[in-house]
Amino acid sequence: MPAALRGWRAPILLAIALAGAAGAFYYWHTPRETPTQEERRAEAARFMSELMLGKAGIGGPFTLTDQHGKAKGLADFRGKLVLLYFGYTFCPDVCPTDLAAIARVLELLGPDADKVQPVFVTLDPGRDTQELLRNYVGNFSPRFVALRGTEAEVRRVANLYRVYFEKVPVPGASAYVVDHTAFIYLVDRDGDYIGFFPPGTAGERMAALVRERLAQPG
Ligand code: NI
Repeated sequence: MPAALRGWRAPILLAIALAGAAGAFYYWHTPRETPTQEERRAEAARFMSELMLGKAGIGGPFTLTDQHGKAKGLADFRGKLVLLYFGYTFCPDVCPTDLAAIARVLELLGPDADKVQPVFVTLDPGRDTQELLRNYVGNFSPRFVALRGTEAEVRRVANLYRVYFEKVPVPGASAYVVDHTAFIYLVDRDGDYIGFFPPGTAGERMAALVRERLAQPG
């Protein structure tokens, strides 16, 4: 018998070994609520290919709460084309650029802007209060409807549109950023998904395509 397993050391070593085994068992057999980073990355890749290749049914009806506290969803925008965007007000870069581009589309459309509804859905309802949302979208265009819900509601709607998002802690701070895909979705007058504009699409380009679509029925 090795020296370490003789005398008083044996029960201690046995206890350590058992604790380790129990820990490993617990880890593998307990469902984790928060997906690992690897699982998240795999989900992001799957969402991206489903969106780009149109492999899955994209979009669908939803109702959330607008910046004035009213229940609002795609059904309320029937008869209008919808420019739908998912982001968050603390977004340092991508969201403001794309929201400004959407505002530019409305400007370029002139009176036809009445036939288009811009919608912003926050992916960060924990921090994006109703009031914050109201002020934020108001900076871009008074025409914006800003929507929020519970974390679970927002996750459900984001999944419908294959929007990937994940909270990422900022090292050395209690704050976090939200990594997210930033496509601008075009939804038809009946609430059905038509297609998407890649992030960074110029307002001029979007306006031209929206005009084409406005000239078509449906
Ligand atoms: Ni953003």
